[in-house]
Amino acid sequence: MLDRRISSTAGVLAGLSLLAFALGAGPPTAPTAPPLSAKAKLGQQLFQTTALSNPKGQGCISCHDPHAGFADPDHALPTSGGAVDGLFGFRNAPTISYIIFCPPRVRFSAEDGGYVGGMFIDGRAPSLMSQAQQPFLNPFEMHNLDPATVVHEIAALPLARTFRLVYGPHALDPGNEDLAYEQMSEAIAEFQFSRQFNRFDSKYDYFLDGLAELTPAESRGLELFNGKANCIPCHPSTVEGSLRAPPPHPLFTDFGYDNIGAPKNWENPFLYMPRTINPDGPDFIDYGLANTIALFDPEHAQEEAGKFKTSTLRNIDLTAPYGHNGYFKTLKDIVHFYNTRDVPEAGWPPPEVPLNVNTEDFGNLGLTDQEEDDIVAFLKTLTDGYRP
Ligand code: HEC
Ligand code: HEC
Repeated sequence: MLDRRISSTAGVLAGLSLLAFALGAGPPTAPTAPPLSAKAKLGQQLFQTTALSNPKGQGCISCHDPHAGFADPDHALPTSGGAVDGLFGFRNAPTISYIIFCPPRVRFSAEDGGYVGGMFIDGRAPSLMSQAQQPFLNPFEMHNLDPATVVHEIAALPLARTFRLVYGPHALDPGNEDLAYEQMSEAIAEFQFSRQFNRFDSKYDYFLDGLAELTPAESRGLELFNGKANCIPCHPSTVEGSLRAPPPHPLFTDFGYDNIGAPKNWENPFLYMPRTINPDGPDFIDYGLANTIALFDPEHAQEEAGKFKTSTLRNIDLTAPYGHNGYFKTLKDIVHFYNTRDVPEAGWPPPEVPLNVNTEDFGNLGLTDQEEDDIVAFLKTLTDGYRP
């Protein structure tokens, strides 16, 4: 059922054979990552450089730092600052580890009764390549004028050598800018297929392979996660329950969309940007998936308002704050929210978008404080790089 179409030049990227290659013999038994292909190496250089923003100083790595689970290492702010000092985007940077498993193009799934897949948490980009082209031009991120400017900047960097090795001696010549921009994004996408992003070596992976034991709190947390706390309809903890294109181990997301009813975050700096940037000022509301659906099915967009793509929970301990607007500062906060959202005495503010809030799966789970802590203990077993 899984629709893995991505743009033709990158079609090969979706091939599971390449995936198997990139991931090596499998987790945790293969601690040494296979060497990167030349294209992936170029992608790594493009991902890591901070010389391709305007002004210089920001790159993919600034908001997707491997030491922070490939999310923003600045845990104090709910959203990320851009290359231009003082400008902020409106969303919390998610982890991009395991992103290659996300069906690239958002589509309606009758089986799931909702939309699935798509790049970005509102599903607006149809492939990893097209996703990678956007941050360079996003005014709140790398803030370049146009693709040609980015390509001219690339031509002036040491990594231009790698670029020409991979794509030919004339790849960065004047007149080739459009193709070069595509190639740049292809290389970045290819890098995301590498082992670094898809390690499957958390404590939970070792546990699944029978190579680690969970502590009593972690075990109780897992049991609650799968049972009383009802997290698995959206964050499956088994491969059988995950997606249809099987990863070696579970991803803790079905890549579906839901409105969990997260409150508006008044600490989101975007609300206080000048009106030229945020015309709605503090009234700004993030409608999530609805913005994407409005582009091709405006009549039904309202049914998707407030929904965001279900996050993977892998590396979640490293990626605070949580939720699309960073409302939840800690894992305990968001677990407590799932547990008590609909309990009046808990005092949660109303949802940012009151439409389409999921009231079936959670809101009043009846978990004790200890049980919340146990779930948090379990979530912490999902951090990559475990060494027994
Ligand atoms: C200023 C911070 C910032 C920079 C720089 C940045 N990103 Fe992001 N990234 C974000 C935020 C915030 C989101 C979530 C926004 C959204 O989904 O609408 C995101 C989303 C993504 C996603 C989609 C994740 C998903 O679950 O669908 C990918 C993939 C990604 N970024 C890769 C990159 C790459 C590659 C670069 C460099 C070309 C980059 N980002 C540069 C902040 C940043
Ligand atoms: C009905 C589907 C659904 C269920 C059930 C569900 N979640 Fe989620 N979860 C989501 C969606 C959708 C998001 C993204 C919401 C947003 O950004 O507004 C999310 C986000 C999260 C995040 C934050 C991720 C991040 O990167 O910021 C955590 C942590 C989380 N869920 C844990 C849990 C736990 C623990 C449970 C069980 C108590 C649970 N979820 C139950 C759908 C669900």
